Amino acid sequence: MCGIVGYVGNKDSLSIIIKGLKRLEYRGYDSSGVAISDGNTTRFCKSKGKINKLEKKLKKIKDISGPIGIGHTRWATHGEPSDINAHPHMSNSGKLLLVHNGIIENYNTLKEKLINEGFSFVSETDTEVLVNLIEFVKQSEKLKLGEAVQIALRQVIGAYAICVMDYDRPNELVVAKLGSPLCIGMGKNEFYIASDVSPFIEFTKKVVYLKDGELAIIRNHKPTIFRKISDNSKVLPTISRLELSLEKIEKKGYKHFMLKEIYEQPKAIRDTLRGRLNIKKGIVKLSGMDEYMDKFINCKKLTIIACGTSWHSALAGEYMFEKIAKVSVEVEYASEFRYRDPVIDKNDIVIAISQSGETADTLAAIKLAKQKGAYVYGICNVVGSSIARESDSGSYTHAGPEIGVASTKAFTTQMTILYLMAIKLAKIRGVISKKSFINYLHEISAIENKIKIALKNDNLVKKVSKKYMNSKNCLYLGRGYNFPIALEGALKLKEISYIHAEGYPAAEMKHGPIALIDKDMPTVVIATNKINYDKIVSNIQEIKSRKGKIIAIVSKGDKEVKKIADDVIEVPECIESITPFITVIPLQLMSYHIAVMLGKNVDQPRNLAKSVTVE
Ligand code: F6R
Repeated sequence: MCGIVGYVGNKDSLSIIIKGLKRLEYRGYDSSGVAISDGNTTRFCKSKGKINKLEKKLKKIKDISGPIGIGHTRWATHGEPSDINAHPHMSNSGKLLLVHNGIIENYNTLKEKLINEGFSFVSETDTEVLVNLIEFVKQSEKLKLGEAVQIALRQVIGAYAICVMDYDRPNELVVAKLGSPLCIGMGKNEFYIASDVSPFIEFTKKVVYLKDGELAIIRNHKPTIFRKISDNSKVLPTISRLELSLEKIEKKGYKHFMLKEIYEQPKAIRDTLRGRLNIKKGIVKLSGMDEYMDKFINCKKLTIIACGTSWHSALAGEYMFEKIAKVSVEVEYASEFRYRDPVIDKNDIVIAISQSGETADTLAAIKLAKQKGAYVYGICNVVGSSIARESDSGSYTHAGPEIGVASTKAFTTQMTILYLMAIKLAKIRGVISKKSFINYLHEISAIENKIKIALKNDNLVKKVSKKYMNSKNCLYLGRGYNFPIALEGALKLKEISYIHAEGYPAAEMKHGPIALIDKDMPTVVIATNKINYDKIVSNIQEIKSRKGKIIAIVSKGDKEVKKIADDVIEVPECIESITPFITVIPLQLMSYHIAVMLGKNVDQPRNLAKSVTVE
């Protein structure tokens, strides 16, 4: 994780870097730092805590300004959050400064080697090893910075996106990438370096996404040099045009990004569907799928890989593919899949889901699937992300930037793509009638309005949240399509309010979790199902007879559950396969309100980061 920013140009780099770091704070926020060069002197400042702490510290430093600089916001991997472990890290001579996102796996071996060469270390980080390795290569082989970076990186095992400054070459920055994201905003006689495009969106629309194994030497008023790290060969960069606007990455009057993103879901889903649905002609257009239609028609098994919330959408996808398209599906945690020896071959389709498109485990799982000959379909939100580029084809969710660490609109838009894929597959494999295909199209296009209606219950959800905000534990139960929603509801509560919560298939309760039930243990039951409705009612009775409290999510007009639940939140009626899109809304809102009432940092929960680019 971690976010890095750099600037080379004519403006004062400090304010650009600080603003950029704030936009990247979602990637990590336990400490931060900057180094700024005025062409003669380089000054730096680091601080434990959020960027505002760094800003306070910076006010006390005289003359820290200049047209070249680097900055970093950290999510600790090696060494606890502290001033010393914060980046930039300085080499022993004091000449090189480096910011890094990623993990150097062989840092211990490299560190021993450097200690034997007389180097010493002040921090516990792998990054300090890297900056000294570059210095060692530079000094011993008498090289310029760019060459030294290249040669040093050939000895490194792991993942990195780095940006390096040299006191002796104050007008240039060297950047390189393997595994972690890095892009360069190409302005007019100025360059912006960042982990994603948000730090420079208002300055330039031209961007080069550095590819794995590439390095760039960025100099003031001179053309940037792009090279391959492995053999120093020249690389011709591709300049892409950004469609993102500044407005899209701001809070627009909402108190938190998470709330804004919850409320954005109707529009986000509309954007996901845009151009892909033609009800009149009875068409679902997914070009990534159309290109590989034969593979989809003939595939015997789909494997879906993802992590966290994206894994929950994968699980909802499993129900969709199996029930609607009658295809066998396996859903795998990417982190497990990558280290097993999964039985996958060239006839298999692997679907990889990721909001950020940078999750290290998912990326590694894709690479493994490809090695085994499988065709990989990526579902990503971030355009141009590593997973999007690594997949053979795929679909973007077009949800817009998701800044809140707790994923909300990414989840519902991922399910939207999975739904479209499932009904398209069902049609091309001839397992559903034209009439029922058209019916599914109507249902998916009605989601936007149904979510709007579900959002109208926000005040009621807030009231219910207040009642249960001091609970220490919470159980979430659902069946069928709503089982993934039980998992997702529990994850949302855990990650932003730090209340222990578990999601279970409702019928599994009697095999263990029922032992937990007492008057202090609320259970959220998603009881919208038509199939097995009576069984859910029985589950609720079982909890009630053990004095458990029930918060029920029910379909409008429900009669039975209302009689027995302590609190009831209605959602609009819909067909079974659409329920997860709607039932997740009150659960997202509930976790949001509880976290706010408990005074937690909703958008930046402790210990978490938005994109998990480390194992
Ligand atoms: C939870 C959450 C995480 C992510 C997970 C995967 O709210 O955001 O569980 O879903 O880290 O991230 P992506 O989808 O970017 O691969």
